[in-house]
Amino acid sequence: MDLKQYVSEVPDWPKKGVSFKDITTIMDNGPAYKYATDQIVEYAREKEIDIVVGPEARGFIIGCPVAYSMGIGFAPVRKEGKLPREVIKYEYDLEYGSNTLTMHKDAIAPGQRVLITDDLLATGGTIEATIKLIESLGGIVAGIAFLIELEYLDGMKRLDGYDTLSLITYED
Ligand code: PRP
Ligand code: MG
Repeated sequence: MDLKQYVSEVPDWPKKGVSFKDITTIMDNGPAYKYATDQIVEYAREKEIDIVVGPEARGFIIGCPVAYSMGIGFAPVRKEGKLPREVIKYEYDLEYGSNTLTMHKDAIAPGQRVLITDDLLATGGTIEATIKLIESLGGIVAGIAFLIELEYLDGMKRLDGYDTLSLITYED
C-alpha cells in the first residue's frame, strides 16, 4: 500500500509557506490505519520491546494501536501539568520559547526496552526530549518509528546512533 497517497497536504497551513502533512486521512481510513500500524509492529517485533512510549498528542495515535497489537503497555509523554503523579521533566528550546515534557517516574523500569512512536519527525526536538526522559529512567531506546519524516529538516541528525523507521518520507 502506498501510504503517502492517504496523507493530505495542506498548503500554507498553519502559516504561509508551510505544507502541512495531515494524517487524519490515514486515521479515518481503516485499511490505511491498520497497514501503518502493522508495518510498525513488524519493525518492532525483532526488537524485544517491553513498552511503547509516545509524546502527546499525535504520538498516542500511532503508539497505542501498536502497543495493543503487540500485547504490551503504552506510557505517555505529556506536557507539564498533565500527569497526576510524580514526574521527571525535560525542557527543550523551540524556535520561540521553550517546551517542557514529562513522564511518570515509574512509567519505565530500568533495563526495559522501549519503542518510541510519533506521527512526524521534523526538527527532532520532541523525540530528542522523549529519549532523554526514557534514558534518565534507565530505559533502553530499542527503536523509534515515525509515520512521516520531513528529511529536509534534518531531524534524523539528532537521532544519530538510534534505530529508526520512517514509513513515509518527504525530501523537500
Ligand atoms: C508535532 C508532531 C511531532 C512534532 C515534530 O507535534 O506531532 O510530535 O511536532 O516536530 P519536531 O520534530 O520539530 O519536534 P506538536 O508539538 O505540534 O503537538 P501535537 O502532537 O500535540 O499536535
Ligand atoms: Mg506531536
